[in-house]
Amino acid sequence: MASADALFPPGFVWGAATSAYQIEGAVDEGGRGESIWDVFSHRPSAIADGSTGDVACDSFHRYREDIALMRELGLTGYRFSIAWPRIFPSGAGAPNENGLDHYRRVVDALAEADIEPLVTLYHWDLPRSLQSRGGWTNRDTAARFGEYAQAVARALGPEVRHWVTVNEPWVAAYLGHLVGIHAPGLRDRRAALAAAHHLLLAHADGMAALRAELPTDAQAGIALNLAPVAPLGDTNADAEAANRFDGFLNRWFLDALYKGRYPEDMLSVFGDDLPEIRPNDLARIAAPTDFLGVNYYSPNTVRWARGAPMVEAEMASRPGVPQTAMGWEIDPNGLHQVLTRLHAEWAPGSIRITENGAAFDDRLVDGTVDDPDREAYLHDHLLAAFRAVEEGVPLAGYYCWSLLDNFEWSYGYSRRFGLVHVDYATQTRTIKRSGRWYAGVTRENGVSG
Ligand code: FCB
Repeated sequence: MASADALFPPGFVWGAATSAYQIEGAVDEGGRGESIWDVFSHRPSAIADGSTGDVACDSFHRYREDIALMRELGLTGYRFSIAWPRIFPSGAGAPNENGLDHYRRVVDALAEADIEPLVTLYHWDLPRSLQSRGGWTNRDTAARFGEYAQAVARALGPEVRHWVTVNEPWVAAYLGHLVGIHAPGLRDRRAALAAAHHLLLAHADGMAALRAELPTDAQAGIALNLAPVAPLGDTNADAEAANRFDGFLNRWFLDALYKGRYPEDMLSVFGDDLPEIRPNDLARIAAPTDFLGVNYYSPNTVRWARGAPMVEAEMASRPGVPQTAMGWEIDPNGLHQVLTRLHAEWAPGSIRITENGAAFDDRLVDGTVDDPDREAYLHDHLLAAFRAVEEGVPLAGYYCWSLLDNFEWSYGYSRRFGLVHVDYATQTRTIKRSGRWYAGVTRENGVSG
């Protein structure tokens, strides 16, 4: 790569991200209990290719090899998640030291490689025993999360400086409890609204535990899936549907976290289906974060759909806009819009792009994966992020989703997001062309225009 002309600020973190259930495998080792994803993925027809995360990328055993790959990519940061059921196999009681030891080893190996860890505490693998007590529909689950956060912070706190409490509460609440395509597979509006509120309370309890346990220079926040929402047509009905969808996806979480209130218009849309919201809840949810994690893949286009669940809006695609293998529109400008709007309306202080990336139909041919589409996607999104930085958005890091091809939830292994290809039959890892390109970005601290 020619030397970069979009140079990011000094110390900018260049990372990649993964999550426990998507890569670890080893589901019955080290005293691990079952999670809701073990249960869900084993249900007939829950996963498109009939697979599970039982083995995944076997990263539980191969983390040293994976960290060596990170070094080859020149990463300065790695975002990964802790499997809650490795630490609390039955949801409560004393933490399982065996589980904590695994992550102590991972963190030590990262330190040796000079890679800064960013630990996500909840990336969707709730202990099964907590689900049997109502899971996220039960307010008490937030308190269990606080205990779990405390145990992990106590074990890893001196070494780990960057923490995410909850990953994408919107996805966990709605895909898990309304649409039913994620664990625990419910289809119930009230359950989904309860889960959304309790996931934010979990964030609040988690932040409080992290603050109590960690050195003062540690940084903690939450990761949200955010997207600009535009109406498909030019009717009022579509415009109103887009505004409601924006309230549902973006404003609900951002207003709660950064303004200490839920948006009025959405309170009336959700009405009596909301769970109990106690007087102090919003103040706790809005306790300051040190950074906000932004997961961005695609903008959302919606149209009005009478009777559609939650907000009478349904997703649509704009004709002629290119898409990834997920069917998600490719629009780097959406990332710029998200970042600049965040800074203007909610000013979270510091922002990290905790996920961004794309699935394409990669092929391993003669030992190489030539994936120019992913390279172009990353290049264009980094330029969009760079424009936001130039306009004053305080962006501190970027974590590509994902380090490895992995278990893509209800799609199983049929969608590949990695900078590194995984042959699941042999667990052979191969750095893709996009990974080699990203190594140039991390080396130069930027991209060329
Ligand atoms: C996000 C998830 C992540 C991955 C990407 C593609 O919603 O946080 O685990 O599945 O989508």
